[in-house]
Amino acid sequence: MSEEVFLALCRPGFESDLAAELSDRAVDLGVAGYPRTDRDNGYVLWHSQQGSLMPLLDTGLIFARSLYPCAHAFTELPEADRIGALWPALQQQGPFNELYLEHADTNDGRELARFLRGFRKALEPRLRKGGLLRERAERRLHLFFQDSRNGWLGVSPASLPLPENGVMRLRISPEAPSRPALKLEEAMLRFIGRGRPDGVHTAVDLGAAPGGWTQVAAKLVGSRGTVVASDLLAMDALPDVTFIEGDFREEAVYERIIASLGGRPVDLVMSDMAPNMSGMKDIDQPRIMYLAELALELAQAILRPGACLLVKVFHGEGYEAYMKQLQAGFRSVKSRKPGASRARSREVYLLARGFQRQD
Ligand SMILES: C[S@@+](CC[C@H](N)C(=O)[O-])C[C@H]1O[C@@H](n2cnc3c(N)ncnc32)[C@H](O)[C@@H]1O
Repeated sequence: MSEEVFLALCRPGFESDLAAELSDRAVDLGVAGYPRTDRDNGYVLWHSQQGSLMPLLDTGLIFARSLYPCAHAFTELPEADRIGALWPALQQQGPFNELYLEHADTNDGRELARFLRGFRKALEPRLRKGGLLRERAERRLHLFFQDSRNGWLGVSPASLPLPENGVMRLRISPEAPSRPALKLEEAMLRFIGRGRPDGVHTAVDLGAAPGGWTQVAAKLVGSRGTVVASDLLAMDALPDVTFIEGDFREEAVYERIIASLGGRPVDLVMSDMAPNMSGMKDIDQPRIMYLAELALELAQAILRPGACLLVKVFHGEGYEAYMKQLQAGFRSVKSRKPGASRARSREVYLLARGFQRQD
């Protein structure tokens, strides 16, 4: 295979998000290539024409549940001897320390689960016997089946953790992705450095419950970073996240957030705070703009120069004035109505980048 092909599995319906994320990350890495996917097929194939996406195995992706380079495409495996047909490629790529048999998370894919259980029973002993499955080997074997005869053989370094489940992992309810988490993923990917997590080590998350954004932020800062989250409502504890419960309009909550940062320079302040909606514009609009004002005030006190503020506001009274304040204090301000936001909602996210301290 002359060009590099990566297979990335995702939750069905998120193929275009994953394709966009791969394209963004490829641009960052200086890789020329293109994604290929079909609607709702649960995966994206990335073809690199120049350069390699290998560094992504280390950093992971938001929308990918699994990502690895494909070494070999298999087509029309004979039903009577699939293993025999795969054997030369297995010998070429092995030995492996683990075997992953995979299918897309679609109805068609799930129908393969039974076939794959049987196939594993046949393949594992053959691999062991042939010396191709050994504990100390340095690569994992991935066999991705589109159907029972066609698919891809991929390998990934055993030293790297398997990608966590991307959007799956971010879901608050097991049934549906959290709408706010998806909105933040989009906002972060498209706004804050095109999915590149470097540069954000300390983040503050206001209006954090139930924790969708907080989980994204925790992922962004990594295990050595700091996330301070706060909300009126309690939320489940998250590893390595300091949570402060209380009304952000109260001075005491503001002070507790500052204190818990211990003087660390902050790279990102996010506010998804929204008041309980009365449905009456004249009441809701000033309330949300007030919360946005307070978020800006905190940001001005704790952001390091060059840092970002991501804040939710509503179009309406006070919006233009708020924009002007952001424009005066930051190098650039972009607004975005995320795709995951309800079409007619007035909600808009503003990302202000390049904080300029005005001492
Ligand atoms: C849209 S939800 C946030 C969702 C969250 N970003 C996520 O990803 O799970 C808005 C949150 O703002 C909080 N909130 C509203 N007014 C607040 C205030 N005055 N102080 C602190 N939190 C507030 C609400 O309790 C609510 O949890």
